[in-house]
Amino acid sequence: MIIGYVIGESRPTKITALSSRPLSIGEYTIIDSEEGKILGLVEKTYVSSVALADVKNFDEAAESKEIAEINRRDKGYTSQIMILGFLDKLQKGQAIIPAIPPLPGTEILEATSQDLEKIFGPDGVQWIKIGSLLRNPEIVAKVNLNKIVSRHIGILAMTGMGKSNLVSLIAKQINDLNGTVIIFDYHDDYSSLSIPKINVIDAKINPRLLDAESLGEVLEIRDNASIQQRILRMAFTNQVKESKEFWEALNDQVEEIIQLNKKDKKEYTYSGGRVQDKIDDAQHKFSDILDPGVMDPIGLIKEGRINILNISSLSEKQANVAMSYYLQELLNDRKDAIRAKNIKQTTKRNPRFGSSIFVVIEEAHVFIPKTEDTQAKYWASKIAREGRKFGIGLGVVSQRPRSLDPNIVSQMGSLAIMKIIQEDDQSQIASAAESISKNLVEQLTSLNVGDAILVGQWVNLPSIVHIEQVKEKTMGADQDAVTEWAVAKKFNGIAKESTQKLIQKDLLVD
Ligand SMILES: Nc1ncnc2c1ncn2[C@@H]1O[C@H](COP(=O)(O)OP(=O)(O)OP(=O)(O)O)[C@@H](O)[C@H]1O
Ligand SMILES: [Mg+2]
Repeated sequence: MIIGYVIGESRPTKITALSSRPLSIGEYTIIDSEEGKILGLVEKTYVSSVALADVKNFDEAAESKEIAEINRRDKGYTSQIMILGFLDKLQKGQAIIPAIPPLPGTEILEATSQDLEKIFGPDGVQWIKIGSLLRNPEIVAKVNLNKIVSRHIGILAMTGMGKSNLVSLIAKQINDLNGTVIIFDYHDDYSSLSIPKINVIDAKINPRLLDAESLGEVLEIRDNASIQQRILRMAFTNQVKESKEFWEALNDQVEEIIQLNKKDKKEYTYSGGRVQDKIDDAQHKFSDILDPGVMDPIGLIKEGRINILNISSLSEKQANVAMSYYLQELLNDRKDAIRAKNIKQTTKRNPRFGSSIFVVIEEAHVFIPKTEDTQAKYWASKIAREGRKFGIGLGVVSQRPRSLDPNIVSQMGSLAIMKIIQEDDQSQIASAAESISKNLVEQLTSLNVGDAILVGQWVNLPSIVHIEQVKEKTMGADQDAVTEWAVAKKFNGIAKESTQKLIQKDLLVD
């Protein structure tokens, strides 16, 4: 069905169209050029009225409205359409842009389900369903899982727009295919995911396995407390690392340093005491997290499961140390696995993960910040660069793209971007991802919860989709404060009534 014509100046990648009805942003259309059918995506859309274009006052507007209603020629529906490539080639997974721009006057047709199905829902086990096209909801939208794991993804959106829902959906699909997922869960968002193959683990740090600097961080010794740092470095000897009673041995070693320096360096007495306080804290306040008894923290991660590494009870610095430790171990494990497989070389230990794994960092702006060099950032960057070779995919999830390290974002082969209003966030995304056009970035403000623009290697074409809601995920919904208060008020009323009755009863008894 003809719905419009190409008008004005055309370019190989962009045309302007006049249509018989308003076209929606995100809608796919067919440009019926002489060289063959071309698929286009509506990026901008305008409606104008001749009668109402230049009205000066209320009465004129009211009259013009009536004229506009009866005049069929009054309304103009104009849109800007991005050319995505020849339809038949796209159906085979190739994007070939026409060398000659479509001529003005070329017919624009409605895209049919047959036209779109093959492109957005290709066959093959690596293509998994994540939702449907936003403007053509009858068309299933699939993404290529292999590309997620080999080339990483970034999931970026404002808070509450559906990032964790998408992570849960991908995790579930990977898991259905027996894959392994590891999610660093900073807000305890995933432990309630009701999926049978879920493995919720409290992240633990074995202080023996750290270097002195990281130990200082998990003990929360301030960066500028240089004497305390020095004492800890001196006390954290190999002998202490290997001793049975780790904390006692460390404490004794600090004591020895204090005593040795009592005369010459009096400041050691105070600072050493502070370090001893921190060691005491470690055994009480942080005893759940810092455990000298766990010899292999990654041993708790299970292959073929969705592993939720709960880091919500850790401070930011502790979480950073834990994450960098886990990332390093996971990368080394996969390196060992590939070496063992390729060269049949024996490695120091048996690799835990025989097949590719997918690691997700939630609240990534905290761990991979733009302005600071953290240890977690070092290991995440290394995985972003090298993970492809070793079968370790990275998912970077953030509500504050402007604070994320741009190098990491540019390493993400694919992106899912949901509603984003802040201009700094939008421009950060536009500069990091070449596959997203300026017009598409402008659309980000108009998306609703669960709507996403998908770009990059995991899709055949940039697409605007509505992501399926994961029913098994219960956390993350906004709290209904008003209903909660109403219930609380009712209960308070009952409680008050019963206490008053008790008091009255007591008085009677007295
Ligand atoms: N695809 C979707 N369809 C419908 N509703 C959705 C969809 N995705 C998310 N929601 C709703 O939005 C709520 C918030 O989603 P989610 O927790 O995934 O957001 P988020 O972007 O991870 O937020 P935050 O930044 O706070 O972590 C969910 O509880 C759910 O009710
Ligand atoms: Mg979330």
